[in-house]
Amino acid sequence: MAQGNQNSAAAFATNGLAAVADADREFAFSDADFRGLAQVAYEQAGIALSDSKRNLVYSRLSRRLRALGLSSFRDYRAFLDENLAERESFINAISTNLTKFFRESHHFDHLRSEVIGKFAKSYIGKSGRLRIWSAGCSSGEEPYTIAVVIKKEIRDLERHDIRILATDIDTEVLGRGARGEYPGNSVDDIPRPYQEYFQATGAGDTLAVDRQARSLVAFKRLNLMEQWPFKGTFDAIFCRNVMIYFDGPTKAKLIARYTEKLNPGGFLYIGHSESLNGSHPGLSLVGRTIYRREA
Ligand SMILES: C[S@@+](CC[C@H](N)C(=O)[O-])C[C@H]1O[C@@H](n2cnc3c(N)ncnc32)[C@H](O)[C@@H]1O
Repeated sequence: MAQGNQNSAAAFATNGLAAVADADREFAFSDADFRGLAQVAYEQAGIALSDSKRNLVYSRLSRRLRALGLSSFRDYRAFLDENLAERESFINAISTNLTKFFRESHHFDHLRSEVIGKFAKSYIGKSGRLRIWSAGCSSGEEPYTIAVVIKKEIRDLERHDIRILATDIDTEVLGRGARGEYPGNSVDDIPRPYQEYFQATGAGDTLAVDRQARSLVAFKRLNLMEQWPFKGTFDAIFCRNVMIYFDGPTKAKLIARYTEKLNPGGFLYIGHSESLNGSHPGLSLVGRTIYRREA
């Protein structure tokens, strides 16, 4: 507690409002605690937490402290140091998972016409292979949006070898994605022609994703900062609203790795607020936040 009060005094020197907030805190949370945790987030997940994220880190991790019966962030840091298993809960707590069906919907219009529509035309009466990766898929709304767009566009789905890889670092959201069930009001985000692929389960106000669309998607845990354990390449990669949490060098490295993982002519879709600065060899901008791997 004494530590918390000292911090309040320090914060007051620079910002009276912060001092009020610190004094009211349930757990002592010093600058050193914030910096220490920010360093773990950066080393483990590439997530760069600026000072403006201090309150967010406090509120998200307070739940972990309560669950573990700890009384200060200093104790939590020590616990995190000593218990490797806690890293998973730490990353789950600090990652931001906001997502929705058909988010930034012009990407799906482009996917439909330039990838799926062309695939369907090239493989009339014969079987084809299509691979799409949703990197940082959160709770599954993005890969399932891709799946229902595919289902609508390709009538003889069984004939083809089509898979959507959906990866995220956060095991909690991956579990939700794998269940494929969403609150009834998610339907508001889904354009009418696709609503038929989301059926009421009969259990409360819950919608389930169409079974065939679901079967196209495989959820796997993957930390984008680590080695990627797959050899194949993709026709399209979605990495949207993920790199926003990374710093410039991390983002540049990731873009180069995605470029290697795209088939020539394949597309990379990034979030609207994540435009790429500098040159990215092998990629050309072909639409709003859409890049094409040069042939
Ligand atoms: C805001 S969500 C974006 C979801 C979806 N792509 C969209 O645009 O709606 C960001 C996701 O990136 C994931 N993420 C953050 N750092 C990651 C990392 N190092 N490796 C893999 N996923 C990461 C988070 O867990 C979170 O689910």
